[in-house]
Amino acid sequence: MARDNNTLIVGIDIGSVNIRTIIVQQSNNEQQPRIIGVGSAPSFGIRRGVITDVADVTKALVQSVESAERMAGVQVKSAVLNIGGSDIAFQNSKGVIAIGRADGEVAEDDINRVISEAQIISLPMNREIVHVIARKYRLDDQDNIKDPIGMKGVRLEVDTLVIESGSSHIKNISKCAYQANIEIDDLVLEPLASAKSVLNKKQKELGVVLINIGGGTTSVAVFEEGDLVHTAIIPVGAGHITNDIAIGLRTSIEVAEKIKLEYGSAIARDISKKEGIDLATIDSSEEGVISRHHVAEIIEARFEEVFSLVQKELKMIGKAGLLPSGAVLVGGGAKMTNATELAKEVLGLPVQIGFPAGFGGILDKVDDPSFATVAGLVLWNEQSSMPASREGFMSSMASHMLARQAGEGADKVKVWLKKFLP
Ligand SMILES: Nc1ncnc2c1ncn2[C@@H]1O[C@H](COP(=O)(O)OP(=O)(O)OP(=O)(O)O)[C@@H](O)[C@H]1O
Ligand SMILES: [Mg+2]
Repeated sequence: MARDNNTLIVGIDIGSVNIRTIIVQQSNNEQQPRIIGVGSAPSFGIRRGVITDVADVTKALVQSVESAERMAGVQVKSAVLNIGGSDIAFQNSKGVIAIGRADGEVAEDDINRVISEAQIISLPMNREIVHVIARKYRLDDQDNIKDPIGMKGVRLEVDTLVIESGSSHIKNISKCAYQANIEIDDLVLEPLASAKSVLNKKQKELGVVLINIGGGTTSVAVFEEGDLVHTAIIPVGAGHITNDIAIGLRTSIEVAEKIKLEYGSAIARDISKKEGIDLATIDSSEEGVISRHHVAEIIEARFEEVFSLVQKELKMIGKAGLLPSGAVLVGGGAKMTNATELAKEVLGLPVQIGFPAGFGGILDKVDDPSFATVAGLVLWNEQSSMPASREGFMSSMASHMLARQAGEGADKVKVWLKKFLP
């Protein structure tokens, strides 16, 4: 079936455990993008969100995209990809400029210039800026401005969060996409993409923390008054639980994963110490009976560590226990039995699981917390095409850095990414 390729948006989430693809079609007469293809493939060659083997990742990427293409009956030419992993770092930066127009009215160009100023930070040779998020503006004596366009003043200041990554990390993502014959429309920080698909305006306004428990990493994004106030990527994920079980019970990784998925719980106290799991029912080559309570103890210990690390991030910004919309869990790890209960206890917040929203079409496939990131990638363009600060934060990746170079929107990103191509 032939479809108009111009209206297609593709998102590819390169995860430590799974590479997920969504193809959506956006037509003028429909408000929401319609999902027409979904693909998933196990990923290899990624550790803690960082690519360690380009060939392996490319193979998995092609497999994931092809399965989505088959469902949609279209060919993918370009896509929005995520960037995450333990290589990401954050720093705060300020920019200050004098307003350009004679009448002192702040224009789009002033926003671009002040954010460009904020990007003048000392970065080692092997680091690159990925996003620049404007947190708040100050115009002369007036502070805490979200969108200064149209206001009048002399001196404009901005507080930004600059997100940086190792050049080799970006280069490897570009290489995988290039070898898979896919052009990159945009690179989006993983926690921002996930937040885009599962959090609503009200939650972000009241105060919320999004926690994405993936296979190799757990990412955190905190919003308040509609703005991103903090983000972090913690190098511990649900995959570590599998390793803990394999070590603790001396089983293979495959058996440990099956035990985790079939019998796991993040709270041990509810499981009787007498309840046993016969290993032979999981794998005929294994023997013996293990305690289900002990399995839950192993899982609980790791989840407790993850939530304590999240709590540490919240304490650092003075928000522990103070977010009225609570915590929203996504990622494969969010599906662990009792993960929300344990999160409530450790974080002292209301906790719920997040599901991607904002689509029409084939919804059943993505009605899953582990599809949060890839769903956010296909929704990303809605926001990145917006002028700075209109949603409280501006993060069309690196676009301000590129503003001086060429083109508009995704084209700017392509120009910037070209230097990473082989
Ligand atoms: N039903 C479930 N119960 C418990 N854990 C689950 C369940 N389904 C998946 N997981 C776990 O979730 C993890 C994978 O999550 P996800 O697919 O979000 O990771 P990823 O995006 O590939 O990794 P990352 O974001 O860290 O790069 C695996 O460790 C897997 O065992
Ligand atoms: Mg992930």
